[in-house]
Amino acid sequence: MADISASAPAASNGGARPTAAASAELLREAGRRRTFAIISHPDAGKTTLTEKLLLYGGAVHEAGAVKARAGGRNATSDWMQIERDRGISVSSTVLRFAVGDVVVNLLDTPGHQDFSEDTLRVLAAADCAVMVIDAAKGIEQQTRRLFQVARARRIPIITFVNKCDRPGVSPLQLVDHIEKELGLRATPVTWPVGTGEEFCGVIDRRDESFHRFTRTARGSKVVDDEVVAADDAGLEDDPRWATAREEVELLDAVEADHDPATFEAGTSTPLFFGSAVWNFGVDALLQALQEIAPPPTARPTTEDVVRPLEAPFSGFVCKVQANTDPRHRDRIAYVRICSGRFERGLKVLNSRTGRPFTMHHAHAVFARERQDLPEAWPGDVIGVVGALDLRVGDTLHAGSARVAFPPIPTIPPERFASANNLDARRHKQFRSGLQQLDEEGVVRLLQRGGIQDPRPVLGGVGALQFEVVVQRMRDEFGAEIRLDPLPWSVARLIDLEDAKIVEGDGAGVALFGADGAVFAVFTESFQLRRFAKRHPDVQLRELVNTASDVLAG
Ligand code: G4P
Repeated sequence: MADISASAPAASNGGARPTAAASAELLREAGRRRTFAIISHPDAGKTTLTEKLLLYGGAVHEAGAVKARAGGRNATSDWMQIERDRGISVSSTVLRFAVGDVVVNLLDTPGHQDFSEDTLRVLAAADCAVMVIDAAKGIEQQTRRLFQVARARRIPIITFVNKCDRPGVSPLQLVDHIEKELGLRATPVTWPVGTGEEFCGVIDRRDESFHRFTRTARGSKVVDDEVVAADDAGLEDDPRWATAREEVELLDAVEADHDPATFEAGTSTPLFFGSAVWNFGVDALLQALQEIAPPPTARPTTEDVVRPLEAPFSGFVCKVQANTDPRHRDRIAYVRICSGRFERGLKVLNSRTGRPFTMHHAHAVFARERQDLPEAWPGDVIGVVGALDLRVGDTLHAGSARVAFPPIPTIPPERFASANNLDARRHKQFRSGLQQLDEEGVVRLLQRGGIQDPRPVLGGVGALQFEVVVQRMRDEFGAEIRLDPLPWSVARLIDLEDAKIVEGDGAGVALFGADGAVFAVFTESFQLRRFAKRHPDVQLRELVNTASDVLAG
């Protein structure tokens, strides 16, 4: 792993205003950060692309070392048994590495839709997203859904069209899909010559160069692309070349060129064509991340004040993970730094509880390896160890003036089950395990009527979440549990004072989360509609904090 911690020490900014020199250093460091997440439909190639970005970024020396797949290879970041068994990525991890002068924080999102809520949290911490599309399949359902989440945050999106070595949708059709289905203007930076078996490379529209594609050894090592001027490609008489040139002329004519302003506003997306498995196009994407992906910018707080990067330290918890590794049975809170400089031992306040917290150890977490970080800057996502009191969404800040970043959007659960403790002697473990998993956001722990139910309700979005709960309760907390499905399938967030109305009406039930969220839950959506009609004053929200249609797809 590249050493990303070495840089000149600067004066601590604690809660006080930094000096001009410290501000300048901070802005320089923040300007070097690129914090992004990859979103894709399962199987489009997110894992492969992640590996190749790490390979080309110099963070690993051989692709295949990072992720497990079914039947699997050695897993470094997929630490959970269920991930190993299924070959899916359940937990999100931060992969941090340096490329040239840029420090990349690659936030790994779970590929499976049952963990969409995790993706929301990750995207809350990202400044940019890379959307991977399978050239053969075009825009798929999960891409659409994740895209909506990214759009709700208005973050810029770079598109990587993967698997160009396979027969696929014509590239012009794909451009059309992106524009029609996602409402994003597509601005191809590279353009494919031939598709599928006939794929022979891409034209880089910026400098009219041709990058030749060759099927070499299956891409476990870095290989430089063969790049020549377009006129020297030696393809003049090739019909693939004629077609590609015509298409590029068409793109030029409609001025489908990368436009920094609309890209940063999240309304246009630069396109890169490639084949991650053959390492092709990976270098161009990595360069784009350095050159066009935005560095962190000032973030709005709940007080509607934009907090400048050089303000004293502030950040928010975007993920909590416990027991990630048998060697380190502890709890890590991932904190996205929004302003100021972090240094080891920094004293901060948790704005939810008002309690002080000393950040003794913060780690750059690279798969299972942890590197102690003496300092970190805006844009960095750091793993804070021993964070027993921290929850997802908490704001941490230096200085006594309260700072709070807006809550991270949550998705109301769609499936419910009651949790039964199978061994009465393990009651304590049963309780603390469920509480822990709730705080990590693995599943929601809900209570009826505010009373402590011996068989609490668990709420989630997908079945896999529940499997994770049963397994982790057994493996990590020594508590055997059984989950009995409950009939509800629709939930909406409501205000606390409306809970009585829900209970009084009888069409649904009010459930209370430990984080203060209150849900009205119904068996069928027609019951929800009837309830809404009878009580037009009750606000029934699908997603806190963002457009309610975000997850409609
Ligand atoms: P995901 O994380 O988005 O779910 O996708 P992943 O990278 O695991 O890729 C899914 C499958 O697609 C893998 O094949 C992978 O090798 C293949 N793949 C990824 N990129 C490309 C590409 O550019 N071209 C082609 N032809 N295939 C690609 P698999 O058979 O499921 O796994 P494996 O045995 O190859 O590892």
